[in-house]
Amino acid sequence: MRKGSPIVSPDPRPVILRAEGVTKRFGPVVAVDRVNYQLHQHEVAGILGSNGAGKTSFFNLLTGYHIPSEGKIFYKGKDITNLTPQQRVSLGMMRTFQLTSTFDNLSVTDNLVLSFFRAHQNASLLNLFINTRKRYRDDENIHGALDQFDLRAVSDRLVTHLSLGEKRRMEIAMAVLAKPEVLLLDEPLAGLAESEIKGVLDVLRKQIGKQTILIVEHKISHVKDFLERLIVMHEGRIIAEGGYEECLRHPEVRKSYWQINTPEEDDEQDILHDH
Ligand SMILES: Nc1ncnc2c1ncn2[C@@H]1O[C@H](COP(=O)(O)OP(=O)(O)OP(=O)(O)O)[C@@H](O)[C@H]1O
Ligand SMILES: [Mg+2]
Repeated sequence: MRKGSPIVSPDPRPVILRAEGVTKRFGPVVAVDRVNYQLHQHEVAGILGSNGAGKTSFFNLLTGYHIPSEGKIFYKGKDITNLTPQQRVSLGMMRTFQLTSTFDNLSVTDNLVLSFFRAHQNASLLNLFINTRKRYRDDENIHGALDQFDLRAVSDRLVTHLSLGEKRRMEIAMAVLAKPEVLLLDEPLAGLAESEIKGVLDVLRKQIGKQTILIVEHKISHVKDFLERLIVMHEGRIIAEGGYEECLRHPEVRKSYWQINTPEEDDEQDILHDH
């Protein structure tokens, strides 16, 4: 891992996703400001930053929910700047939560079936929904996912009756069943109780090395163990990049956090105090 400066050392793995000088303006607000970023194959990376730093906007640019005002996005060297979210999914990028539609009045197993076969069979959702869902419940991919994501005990439960932690694990399972190359997780721990966080972290940990993973997360201290690299955003710019400790010690990061957050407002303040 990286020690000391320089902040960014070369990564021998191929670049899978790249942002080149991307800017996103909303009227007078510059939400993302000339960001250059590279994500390497099988890397597990995180985005940290205070409220309004531009994390979600940057995420939306990568996943196609926003088109940049300036700059370009590349996936495996191909310019995807103007592709829709769905087109990016078919290239191998999968985003949890926004793109995964769950069917709350169906069982966990049926949600996994619909997600898997929608991704792999080109069948229309309506057709799967009406005719073929039951046939696929015993598919080994579905059973594998129930075990891997610790959903076996709730496999027959309707999604509407799941706890938030169980639902989050199911959503990650649905995304992973599509076998994406890049998995983008937008605050996977948001709203979870401490007791549920561990379960979600356990399933995320199992994905390491199988996919490229990018996580936006406020509770970054929970994911620091498996993040290889972090970027810290502030006012639309990347102000630090590198290992977790290195980023949190960075003078500009400390300054931006001290200015914006009070200890009550942000878990990370405690971590900053420690250094
Ligand atoms: N759709 C939008 N229209 C107008 N302004 C927006 C829009 N989306 C984001 N912004 C503005 O862009 C800036 C960055 O917001 P963004 O949501 O990307 O920050 P964030 O880092 O995700 O913050 P948080 O941690 O609070 O989720 C903010 O000033 C925000 O008000
Ligand atoms: Mg956000």
